[in-house]
Amino acid sequence: MEIIVARYSGFCFGVDKAVKTAFNVQFDQCDGRVFTLGELIHNAQVIEALNKKGIQAINDIDELRENDCVIIRAHGIGRHVYEMLRERNVRIIDATCPYVKRIHEIVREKHDEGYQIVIVGDPTHPEVIGINGWCDGKALIVSDEKEAEELACSDARMCAVAQTTFRRSKYDAIFETLKKKFAFALKFDTICNATVQRQSEAARLSKVADAMVVIGGRNSSNTQKLYEICRQNCPQTYLIENASELPSLKNIKNLKTVGITAGASTPDWVIKEVIFHMEDMTKRQEGEIDFSKALEE
Ligand code: F3S
Repeated sequence: MEIIVARYSGFCFGVDKAVKTAFNVQFDQCDGRVFTLGELIHNAQVIEALNKKGIQAINDIDELRENDCVIIRAHGIGRHVYEMLRERNVRIIDATCPYVKRIHEIVREKHDEGYQIVIVGDPTHPEVIGINGWCDGKALIVSDEKEAEELACSDARMCAVAQTTFRRSKYDAIFETLKKKFAFALKFDTICNATVQRQSEAARLSKVADAMVVIGGRNSSNTQKLYEICRQNCPQTYLIENASELPSLKNIKNLKTVGITAGASTPDWVIKEVIFHMEDMTKRQEGEIDFSKALEE
């Protein structure tokens, strides 16, 4: 069995930066208490390692006291949340991904200019909630064409942005519907390259592999999207959180090629562990050694 690892998989730039920021926090500058506002990333192993370092996730700002440190995760937060944190005199360590920050700026600017903001994404996702916080919570949020179709027609000028992890083809289709609903429509391409690269590599690999293993948190939206893409091309697609879930791939010995991809919140060490275990399973089942390699262009 040949194991092929997608060229782009695992931690994206923004998550890598946020994780490094958290692990580099100096406790003596923070009165000893350091928190993340919500879980830093959707990955249990990373959260556990942060807990061991003394960094806990909180969801309620009321738990903070003066001089505490609070790390803002890559998803970002709304303007009013920054204001609430400043009122509490806590030290803010801002690990918002620069690509998400750019969306905040677009939304703030266009909202101030009088545009109706439309966010294309999941309304319950923290990134979308944060973006909406830069237009006073007045954005219309749609996640599919049906919801866009249901919007009332308006003579307003509309500015559309997308959640960074949204599927580009779906965003394009939704925008076509939105265009018909507003007098003037402006679209910003806010989908992150890291997402596009991971999605297109996953699509490419899943077309040639006999089976696909997608590694990532079940509550991670970008992992779920990779899973959906792979599943469309390759019926034998499995979503696992770590190597301990690999035994479910019982028929692995019958496969010639297995592709691996991983969500943007999946650390390198988890991917390596999965590869190691798969190679080990292969050796035990076939009595021969296989090598993993990056996907050739
Ligand atoms: Fe940032 Fe893109 Fe990652 S928006 S957090 S680099 S998926």
